[in-house]
Amino acid sequence: MALIAEPFGALPDGSPVIRYTLSRPGGLTLRVLTYGGIVQSLEVPDARGRVVNVVLGFASLHGYLAAGDAYFGCLVGRFANRLAGGRFSLDGENYAVDVNAGGNCLHGGSTGFDKRLWSAEPFNDNELRLTLTSPDGDQGFPGRLNVEVTYCLLESGVRIGYRATTDAPTVINLTNHSYFNLAGEGSGSVEAHTLVIDADEFTPVSRDLIPTGEVAVVAGTPLDLRRKTAVGAHLRDPHRQLLAARGYDHNYVLRGTGLRRAARLADPTTGRVLEVLTDQPGLQLYTGNFLDGSHVGIGGRAYRQGDGLALETQHFPDSPNHPAFPSTVLRPGQLFATSTTWLFHTD
Ligand code: BGC
Repeated sequence: MALIAEPFGALPDGSPVIRYTLSRPGGLTLRVLTYGGIVQSLEVPDARGRVVNVVLGFASLHGYLAAGDAYFGCLVGRFANRLAGGRFSLDGENYAVDVNAGGNCLHGGSTGFDKRLWSAEPFNDNELRLTLTSPDGDQGFPGRLNVEVTYCLLESGVRIGYRATTDAPTVINLTNHSYFNLAGEGSGSVEAHTLVIDADEFTPVSRDLIPTGEVAVVAGTPLDLRRKTAVGAHLRDPHRQLLAARGYDHNYVLRGTGLRRAARLADPTTGRVLEVLTDQPGLQLYTGNFLDGSHVGIGGRAYRQGDGLALETQHFPDSPNHPAFPSTVLRPGQLFATSTTWLFHTD
């Protein structure tokens, strides 16, 4: 087991970015940047011991700075996914937060947690602890928020722990935005991967990808992934939900509560399997619909639509504007604490 820190370039203001490498001999290697808390690479062996990097990313800091709107591998906050019109009210106060996507707030606004320099401190050889203080009014959000994210390298996976406290009532929704390709990043489309999502329902969206507020059953729609289904099997179905999002970009209402399995992604060619476990109520399946071949990844290949998919564990998008959705309110004295685990094995 080892943990290595090395320079990874500097931001335009001169601040140095550090890359941490956590590895287990014969097992996984995880590389995390202090910029955005980005998972730059995650090397995973297959059944024959062949190791590939299963997340999309870039070789240099410049790659991340140039492709910020695709959120490669980063930590997302203060509020993952969309807030309609960048507005919400809390305790009778109206808030207007930064709008950065078609008149809505996406992933916490233009300078979300994905574009911040986090402080990092190795906890032990297997665990890296990242911290960030988001001042009151950051991107328009109330309350000074102290956030801590830990990346823990397990024997065959990664556990991400999120904790936060605030000094004034606020809303919070944190996730990680890694795009997975279990055959290796840059190897082409994930349409042949199979996927299971442990959800009977999803939150339908309107054309601007804002939840309508309904909770609809997946049964009878291309969003039904309760049984092992190839990612590409229904991607081109002329269903209104898929057309609005150009593919899958939907929040699933996960079955059950507590830490449980949310999804299982498998690549039939290499046998690699990823299981996502979380205590969160939702999971956003995003099939990289806006990857358009304009960014060259870490292995030298351009990323196109469907070359990776994100499985973002989260609270439901736009929750503050839908009182029936599970609450995303965090108050002083409360601890926001959640965790998500990516477990790898081979079929
Ligand atoms: C959202 C997409 C958005 C993407 C940006 C996803 O989490 O659901 O709508 O385009 O992030 O990379």
